[in-house]
Amino acid sequence: MTHSSHDRLLIVDFGSQVTQLIARRLRELNVYCEIHPYQNVTAEFLRDFAPKAVILSGGPASVIDEGSPRPTADIFDLGVPILGICYGQQVMMQMLGGKVERGHGTAEFGRAYVTPARDRIDLLHGWFEADREQVWMSHGDHVSAIAPGFAVYGTSPNAPFAVTADLNRNFFAVQFHPEVHHTPNGARLYENFVRLAGFTGDWTMGAYRDEAIRKIREQVGDAKVICGLSGGVDSSVAAVLIHEAIGDQLTCVFVDHGLLRQGEAEEVVTMFRDHYNMPLIHADEQELFLGALDGQSDPETKRKIIGKLFIDVFQKHAGEVGGAEFLAQGTLYPDVIESVSFSGGPSVTIKSHHNVGGLPEKMGLKLVEPLRELFKDEVRELGRELGLPPSFIGRHPFPGPGLAIRCPGEITREKLEILRKADAVYIDQIRKHGLYDDIWQAFVAILPVRTVGVMGDGRTYDYACALRAVTSVDGMTADYYPFSHEFLGETATRIINEVTGINRVTYDITSKPPGTIEWE
Ligand code: XMP
Repeated sequence: MTHSSHDRLLIVDFGSQVTQLIARRLRELNVYCEIHPYQNVTAEFLRDFAPKAVILSGGPASVIDEGSPRPTADIFDLGVPILGICYGQQVMMQMLGGKVERGHGTAEFGRAYVTPARDRIDLLHGWFEADREQVWMSHGDHVSAIAPGFAVYGTSPNAPFAVTADLNRNFFAVQFHPEVHHTPNGARLYENFVRLAGFTGDWTMGAYRDEAIRKIREQVGDAKVICGLSGGVDSSVAAVLIHEAIGDQLTCVFVDHGLLRQGEAEEVVTMFRDHYNMPLIHADEQELFLGALDGQSDPETKRKIIGKLFIDVFQKHAGEVGGAEFLAQGTLYPDVIESVSFSGGPSVTIKSHHNVGGLPEKMGLKLVEPLRELFKDEVRELGRELGLPPSFIGRHPFPGPGLAIRCPGEITREKLEILRKADAVYIDQIRKHGLYDDIWQAFVAILPVRTVGVMGDGRTYDYACALRAVTSVDGMTADYYPFSHEFLGETATRIINEVTGINRVTYDITSKPPGTIEWE
């Protein structure tokens, strides 16, 4: 495996829910880091990866239990700074000769306050300016004796060893979680740690872009690459980056399944074909998709039809390119991180998400995934670096199956047309009120029900629709957006006045969970 040429920090994951936040905090400091499950971090891996520093994450296990996760002991012989967090702290103490015990009234969950225990060490630079620091604790076990060589530098009422360090070896261990928001000054601790470990903050988007271009050229040589372009941020940024690296060796395929929003197909085609001058196949397959969906109302059946047809169509058009060896995908880092599972069993499928899974094997293609190391906001930054217009980069996510999953029940052309118009009015309202960037995703769903209304002196019998707008970080959980009543009232009036076919507007105030963001 070839690793990034930047200074590398290794995060050993023991399965904490918030491990990804550690990586976020570090990336914000322009430090390159990777998360790897503890089982994969062998002595050989360590030699190959050659980290400049290591962080041991938190996790749900108890170090007291037989068979609980342990990092390889070689990690402590690397001669690089190590920071253990929560479970990482306990595992460090246990392995280095200290002692960990079960709760007995010392479990701590939630807010706690740490006060300094003795002289301020570099790790705590900028801490305790107001005597004490608020931190977030989440532990059942606690360290009852610290390992030889360590001293205590911070305590809390229930964690006498809240911050400990062995300054000779540059080993640090904290009982709390500095990566979460509830530890307001936590970012400072990471900043101090990477500074003392000698990181120079060389992980910038400009540097990443140059390195990614070099790697793409190296990987692809003079072969041809095809890329499924959806108009979403990830595939767009991947396409522009690859085009910059290999020019016309790249051909993009844009599949129009008839389930796009108003003006979307034209926008994508104009942007990539005319503005970026990319070879682009515009596969207008509306008839095919809408024909196959005719009469179908079951959400999973609809998704499966779209997923399968998408692959067929993509394969057909990619074949026109002739002799492509590579398929480009906008895979992101969160899709790549292997999760540490202690519960075993597979998770339940809520919805079968549509992507081009299985396609590379089927077509005998190798993958080019230049965004594999990036988080979503970093992809946006790279997009800006590549000169993509801000309006494009800031677009809300749009699902692969498009409007199909915003049209519960049977999909008809009439309903799709009404939905497109209503959605355009709603988004226009959101933009006019300057709310677009505060909202993670907003759209209209057309409901499979007609209701009675009165317009002028006449009776109407038209569709009802639901407005949806959520805030979210990653789409995994979401809250409904708290629009003002004025905004909602004005938007309902506009939709009913401007969109023939809708006479009732509702606002969906379900969070996720228990709801999902899309309606199907
Ligand atoms: P749900 O509805 O599951 O959606 O709460 C979470 C996020 O994922 C998007 N989504 C999809 N994206 N293919 C995609 O590319 C899909 O099949 C798909 N289904 C949902 C959804 O728009 C939201 O942002």
